Amino acid sequence: MTPTAIQIREAQPQDAAAIATIYNEGIRGRSATFETIERSPSDILAWFDATLHPLLVATHDGKVVGWIHASTYRTRDCYAGIAEFSVYVAGQVQGQGVGNALMAAFIPACERAGFWKILSRIFIENTASRQLCQKHGFREVGVYEKHGKLDGVWRDVVIVERLIEGNLD
Ligand SMILES: CC(C)(COP(=O)(O)OP(=O)(O)OC[C@H]1O[C@@H](n2cnc3c(N)ncnc32)[C@H](O)[C@@H]1OP(=O)(O)O)[C@@H](O)C(=O)NCCC(=O)NCCS
Repeated sequence: MTPTAIQIREAQPQDAAAIATIYNEGIRGRSATFETIERSPSDILAWFDATLHPLLVATHDGKVVGWIHASTYRTRDCYAGIAEFSVYVAGQVQGQGVGNALMAAFIPACERAGFWKILSRIFIENTASRQLCQKHGFREVGVYEKHGKLDGVWRDVVIVERLIEGNLD
């Protein structure tokens, strides 16, 4: 797959099933998230809320192969400009530039939505995700040790953050 073959667009409700499939593959993989409960398409439809949180999909040959989503960091007003994000690419096409393409479109989308910071927590062993973030200007803030247990095993996570300069006035 060449990078030019990857298209990025805003997600539509009809993408919910594909988004759920890719997310569930990531949940089952146990290297991306503490989540263990798989999502249905109707769970994903709830992401299409009235807020301005970007939700983008990557397509290849018209098929959804990845997604990136911003969600609320905290409900306090002072944190209104901070978004958490998740990014998932279908296993079959990982390592072929889809994550890069999603992140490259996501940062300007977050800027347009008014966010001044995006952040995430990444399992310390998740090299691909850490590399992706590093490449797109994220800073590794530090490590939360034993942040939670997954399948009974304590896991450490790296906090990553990226300021969005255009919204820092
Ligand atoms: C993390 C993830 C989104 C990256 O997407 P991707 O399409 O596989 O990544 P890309 O091919 O665009 O590569 C992005 C960068 O990460 C690096 N990378 C990708 N896969 C890697 C791997 N297995 N090991 C080390 N680095 C890797 C690449 O080198 C690339 O940097 P470069 O362009 O300088 O070479 C994807 O692997 C994924 O969905 N993983 C499972 C879910 C997950 O972990 N999500 C993140 C939760 S925080």
